[in-house]
Parts: sequence; C-alpha cells; structure tokens
Amino acid sequence: MRVAVIGGGGREHALVWKLSKSPQVDMIYALPGNGGIGEIAECVDIKTDEIEEILRFVKDVDYVIVGPEVPLSLGLVDLVGKHKGFGPTRDAALVESSKAFAKDLMKKTGLPTADFDICRVREEALLKIRGKKYPLVIKASGLAAGKGAFVVENESDAREKIEKLMVEKILGEAGKEIVIEDFLRGEEVSVLAFTDGKHFLPLIPSQDHKRLLDGDKGPNTGGMGAYAPVPFLSDEDVEKIIDRIFEPAVYGLKKGGIEYKGVLYAGLMITDDGPKVLEFNVRFGDPETQAIIPLMESDLMELILATIEGRLGEMRINFNAGYSTCVVLASSGYPGKYEKGKEITGFEDVDDAIIFHAGTKRVGGRFLTNGGRVLGVTATGDKLEDSIEKAYGEAEKIHFDGVYMRRDIGNRGVVG
Ligand SMILES: Nc1ncnc2c1ncn2[C@@H]1O[C@H](COP(=O)(O)OP(=O)(O)O)[C@@H](O)[C@H]1O
Ligand SMILES: [Mg+2]
Repeated sequence: MRVAVIGGGGREHALVWKLSKSPQVDMIYALPGNGGIGEIAECVDIKTDEIEEILRFVKDVDYVIVGPEVPLSLGLVDLVGKHKGFGPTRDAALVESSKAFAKDLMKKTGLPTADFDICRVREEALLKIRGKKYPLVIKASGLAAGKGAFVVENESDAREKIEKLMVEKILGEAGKEIVIEDFLRGEEVSVLAFTDGKHFLPLIPSQDHKRLLDGDKGPNTGGMGAYAPVPFLSDEDVEKIIDRIFEPAVYGLKKGGIEYKGVLYAGLMITDDGPKVLEFNVRFGDPETQAIIPLMESDLMELILATIEGRLGEMRINFNAGYSTCVVLASSGYPGKYEKGKEITGFEDVDDAIIFHAGTKRVGGRFLTNGGRVLGVTATGDKLEDSIEKAYGEAEKIHFDGVYMRRDIGNRGVVG
C-alpha cells in the first residue's frame, strides 16, 4: 500500500522509519519531509497547513498519517475521509486546539486536573487572579506551538501576561480566551495511547525535557530530548491512567457526539495525589516518539489500520525490553534566532544509534541544518543508564557549527 505521512520533523522521521519496516507498506510519501526522511521516503514539497495541496496530492495514496496538530485542527482527516486518514477529526482535535474545551471536558467527566477558570474578557481574568495562591499558570486556549503557557510568580506577573495575551494579542486568536489554573508540583510524564474510540492500547510512558538548559532551566523549547519507558510508572500505573483518564475523556467526547480515533497524548503531572492532566495532545509527541518508536516491536501500520477500522480490541502492542534515550542536537540560538545552512558531518561514524532528522535539508550529497532542532540521536540499552551513555557517545560524533545539546537527558529517570 501507499501511505503519505504529513509533517517534516523528528517525529515524522521516526514514524516513516518504522513504517518502512512494515511488509504491507510499499511506498511512503512525506509532506514535506526533511533531509533524513528523503533517504527512505519520497519527499513532496507541500507544507502541513496547505490543505488544498495536500488533498490534491493524496488522492492516489491509500492512507494519510498526520503528524502535527495544525492540519488535524484544520480538519484534514475529515477532508480525506475517516477510512483513509489516521488521526482525530477537527472536532475531536479540539481537545488540543482549545484548552478551554479540554478543561471543560475534564471537569464534566471528573478527570483529575488542576482547578481552573476560563476567561474570555480581560476584566474577568484580572478579577480571577486576585487572592490566588502563586505560582499560578496562565495559558492561551488556542494552539501556540508550545509558547502559550506561562507560570507566573505573583499577581503583577499574572496581570502582565493577561494584558499581553488579551490586549496586545501577542499570540493572536490563540490568546483571545485564556485558562487560569493552579500550579501542580510533581514529575511530568507523557502517556500516549492508540484508541479507536472504544479500545485503548498504551505506548510505553516517556518523559520529555522541554527546557533549554540542564537542570530544567531556561526557556521552554519544542523538547530537547526524551527517554522511555519511565521507571517510576509501572504497567499497572499506566493501566490506571487509561481507566481513569483516557477512557472517561474519549467516552465523554462520544457523549457529546464526537468520535475520537488516533493517538491520544496526555501530558500528566504525577503529584502526591496521583496523576493529574496538564493537557491533551491529539497526536504523537515530539521528541517522545523518537524515544518510543525504536523500542516498538509491533508493526506500526497494523496498529494504524486497526485504529482506523475500529479493531484495536483484537490487537496487542509489544515493546522490546530495555530503555531508550533520544538526545536532541539544536542550532545555537534556538529557541530564539538561529542560523541555517551549516554543514552537518560525522554521520558515517555513528554505528550504535538511530539518527532522526528534524531541521535538515539535503543539498547535493551534503546535509545542511535547516531548523532550530536539527537531529535527534536515539540509543537503546538494557538499562536506562546504558541508553543515555550510548546516545551521548554517538551524538558527540556529529558536528555542525554551533551544535548545542543538553547534557542531562534521562537523568531524572535514573535519580527518580
Ligand atoms: N498546572 C500546571 N502546573 C505546573 N506546571 C504546568 C501546569 N500547566 C502547564 N505546566 C507546565 O507548562 C508546560 C506547558 O503547558 P501545556 O499545558 O503542556 O501547554 P503547551 O504544551 O500547549 O505549551 C507543561 O509541559 C508544564 O511543564
Ligand atoms: Mg504541552
């Protein structure tokens, strides 16, 4: 069969890499793909929000697998048809594209989450932050590519963020509506599961490292690395999370007439009171996927087909034993301004890790940097420590001008 993968980041490279191992998959197109994806799939120069162009191109493919949230929130799966598109419909994607919608759903279905207010008017928001306990969290409700959540330390910081979002509109429409919620303490984890709306098959839990600097300091990024599985969550813990969080969320949507099919991602804070939902995403995580996929034994295409066809109840999902760590190599300056077009060398020396390309481009026989996050280097090992050591050992072999990586990916799992 012929499949198209929408997206061009590290997540999509990992998905394409895994799909290319499926005996059923004959041809993979990536829209737009990247330098590394181009080695194993045919890249097509169409961006992920160019819905009309995507629709025209995918007429002749059998399945469309959507990586990022934006095309899902634009209704790509509705438009290609639910028998052909992998991922939730536009309405189901609201659990990511509207944090207000998601919090309402959580409240209605009794999910554990931080107490919150939703505000559509500045004056109302300014009233709500009075007399609150700080830190407090202020979030733009709409999609903001990871730049819409702010932890504020006092009322005047809170006021400033409200003005920026609702009056200056620094995030445009995304900040028209905001969520104000209590700050939760604990260990943050990502739990992802395939669901066909009735059945749930969880992936191994993982932990992302969102901050730029070691020790979880500095600005938030798209993710500087991840590891899986998380040693402090047992299989039973994950089962409980499926029962108490995933099932009520998906069944709650169904009650409102919305069927959810695809991968559902819960960003969780493991607090002293148990896991609480920070947010839902409606897709695979990046860079969690680059850590999880190399340990996946099952055929990804079979899981995708079973999800689309509502057959997950008869499926199992198997992972290899051991641990996986993905270290992201970024351009210096990221997540702020950075330069592109630096030659990347040393690939041929890497022999014990998988390299997933994110922001790269192939020009002639050379790979050049083409984004903030450039590569993810994933290594596996029997112990988490082994996978970390290997990932760094191999990452060291790759060079480009201004390469930056965090030095402590995975350490929280070793200490915790
Ligand atoms: N209630 C909360 N308490 C503590 N930290 C939070 C809370 N909500 C969000 N965060 C932190 O902010 C990050 C981003 O928030 P999130 O809701 O995931 O939005 P997005 O991923 O859309 O930016 C989270 O990964 C978490 O580290
Ligand atoms: Mg998040």
